[in-house]
Amino acid sequence: MNSKVLVISGDGIGPEITRETQKVLDVVNKKFDLGLEFDEALLGGAALDATGVPLPDITLEKARASDAILFGAIGGPKWDDVDRQLRPEKGLLQIRSSLQLFGNLRPAILYPQLADASSLKPEVVSGLDILIVRELTGGIYFGEPRGIRTLENGEREGYNTYKYNETEIKRIGKVAFEAAQKRGGKLCSVDKSNVLEATVLWREIMEQMAPDYPDVELTHMYVDNAAMQLVRAPKQFDVIVTGNMFGDILSDAAAMLTGSIGMLPSASLDLNGRGMYEPCHGSAPDIAGENKANPLAMILSAAMMLRYSLGSPEAANAIETAVGHVLDQGLRTEDIYSEGTQKVGTIAMGDAVANALQAH
Ligand code: IPM
Ligand code: MG
Repeated sequence: MNSKVLVISGDGIGPEITRETQKVLDVVNKKFDLGLEFDEALLGGAALDATGVPLPDITLEKARASDAILFGAIGGPKWDDVDRQLRPEKGLLQIRSSLQLFGNLRPAILYPQLADASSLKPEVVSGLDILIVRELTGGIYFGEPRGIRTLENGEREGYNTYKYNETEIKRIGKVAFEAAQKRGGKLCSVDKSNVLEATVLWREIMEQMAPDYPDVELTHMYVDNAAMQLVRAPKQFDVIVTGNMFGDILSDAAAMLTGSIGMLPSASLDLNGRGMYEPCHGSAPDIAGENKANPLAMILSAAMMLRYSLGSPEAANAIETAVGHVLDQGLRTEDIYSEGTQKVGTIAMGDAVANALQAH
């Protein structure tokens, strides 16, 4: 049976990196006879400009009807002044929430070829392989009540609500414990339970679940310490599980350990393993349209899609191997460039991965 993939290129560098990723997918589609069918839809600023809303109904309909969604990036200064409810980011948050894509997997792997591109010493990051499991449809990102209100004295006050219920904590806990079982058997739950009640409950539930996973060693860390440990000694971590906002912040830090956020893919999964796949980086409006963006995070996201949602691990491995070949050849986009390597643009990088796939 053919699989349907919905491709959403988005804003900024989104369309450029999507074109390169599509090239790569077209090659594996033929080579492994995957029978992938592609459709397109709008989200974020592009959707706002065309339809007046950041998540059009038709996009959501197409997303529900597809087996997986591949997404580029959204947002940019062009939409800085639009109403809060219509911001491009709202579209992304709405699609995550509507499809209940609560399980966000963000692997931070250092390619040995890029050890020099990291801002940390090679010995601190070499061999780095951590997985951040971020809760994606709850916490302070979605908690009600929220808003900006005017107090009696006429002063304005912004407010948000940080909450997690037991069901939400358990389902992300399950994803994280199972991931740890398949990897190094270590799970670090990150919270702020010395201050925030929502995370007191979070820690309690993680502890309750631990006996069901005797092969996983569960530890806990406060988020401030976790941020410090990530840049001090990142290799102590195997799997990290945390809430929405802490995961947003820590995954950017983890990405930089690997040399560039331009290398970091992600998967956002629902209870049935259906998902949306996107690079962790944003729309980088400063370099959009200049053939400078690194397409590898999105190409690697496509590999995750083939593995987790489309049941094609061979094709996923082939893409990851091809990326390795291209790095071996010394090709680098600007963000991962270091002396002695060859600087290339977005298109040349995409072509090189597609060619490496054809050749091997
Ligand atoms: C991410 C992004 C998004 C988030 C933004 C664009 C809403 O930073 O996927 O990490 O905060 O989740
Ligand atoms: Mg982020």
